[in-house]
Amino acid sequence: MAQFRTLDDIGDVAGKRVLVREDLNVPMQDGRVSDDTRLRATVPTVSELADKGAIVLILAHFGRPKGQPSAEYSLAQVVPAYAAVLGRPVRYIDWEGVDDAVAALRPGDIAVLENTRFFGGEEKNDPAVADRFARLGDRYVNDAFSAAHRAHASTEALAHRLPAYAGRAMEAELKALQKALGDPERPVAAVVGGAKVSTKLEVLRHLVAKVDHLIIGGGMANTFLAARGVDVGKSLCEHDLEATALDILDAAERASCTVHLPYDVAVAKEFAPHPPSLRMCNVHEVAADEMILDVGAAAVEALSDVLKTCHTLVWNGPLGAFEMPPFDAATVALARTAAALTQSGGLVSVAGGGDTVAALNHAGVAGDFTFVSTAGGAFLEWMEGKALPGVEALERR
Ligand code: 3PG
Repeated sequence: MAQFRTLDDIGDVAGKRVLVREDLNVPMQDGRVSDDTRLRATVPTVSELADKGAIVLILAHFGRPKGQPSAEYSLAQVVPAYAAVLGRPVRYIDWEGVDDAVAALRPGDIAVLENTRFFGGEEKNDPAVADRFARLGDRYVNDAFSAAHRAHASTEALAHRLPAYAGRAMEAELKALQKALGDPERPVAAVVGGAKVSTKLEVLRHLVAKVDHLIIGGGMANTFLAARGVDVGKSLCEHDLEATALDILDAAERASCTVHLPYDVAVAKEFAPHPPSLRMCNVHEVAADEMILDVGAAAVEALSDVLKTCHTLVWNGPLGAFEMPPFDAATVALARTAAALTQSGGLVSVAGGGDTVAALNHAGVAGDFTFVSTAGGAFLEWMEGKALPGVEALERR
């Protein structure tokens, strides 16, 4: 694994201004933070630095304002919830007058600086913007794995301008990912679900060369079934990608990766909770007016048996339309098996990306996985085997 400096290497920070890149890009509803998972993830790093007497200056983006300052994208609205999560006062500092406001801070103070994306050059990794940020601090800590797939001034260029360290959340994330795909204990299984194959082609191509078992679920499994000649009726299916799906299946075979597709499924004529047309059937019995909406019970049992033979699991995406009961059944059942195997010590389980955390929370088992990433796009790019600029910039040179 690449070597990173962490907070263990940062030395005496008392009275020093530490710029900490966090991901405060949280969902809001009616002006309130509706999910504070990302805020909670920052607590170890920010508290540790403040307790050591650092002046903690938090850099973060919020939404996609594209260089245009506005109240809609102001981080000021996140600060009250953030202070509540940290259990400490948090100041908010606008870019106007930032130098004076920072100069007035005392050791142990914590301040959130306004949205980094109010600078047009932030997303262009503009050296002038990175210089502007660097002048505010003595040290740089990147704790935002979920923004590390972006080569932006606050995630990339800034790391080359100040002594740079990985924060505690970043450190935990990198260690977990290393354990999951970098240097895993075999056999390794990957669960990849979600609606569309087109969004995960690179993930699948990368995984077939890395894992022993690839479990494909969700709408994307339909494209693979169709490619193998199964009539999937009215199911969500990207028919134009059938040839690509066959290429992936061939690559898996060459790499001795066993691909698991559902052989029984839950189908219905309408997408509604507990629809009257719901029935379970073999994949070869889907009628022309039916949609596949979940993996069936027999297939889930077989998949549970596969997980029992594995020592490592990477999970991204639900197996069925989990937001609509009873099409959450397969995701919930397999997630509970994975959680139980993890808790009994036999499995290292790492999950992340988009809907995955919501699905595991729905199954009530997110806390029982070895590690659940708060990242969406960054987790997917990592699963694609891509280098993440925000991580590379931290590597010891
Ligand atoms: C995210 O929400 O995944 C990160 O905060 C990155 O946001 P972005 O996709 O707008 O760069």
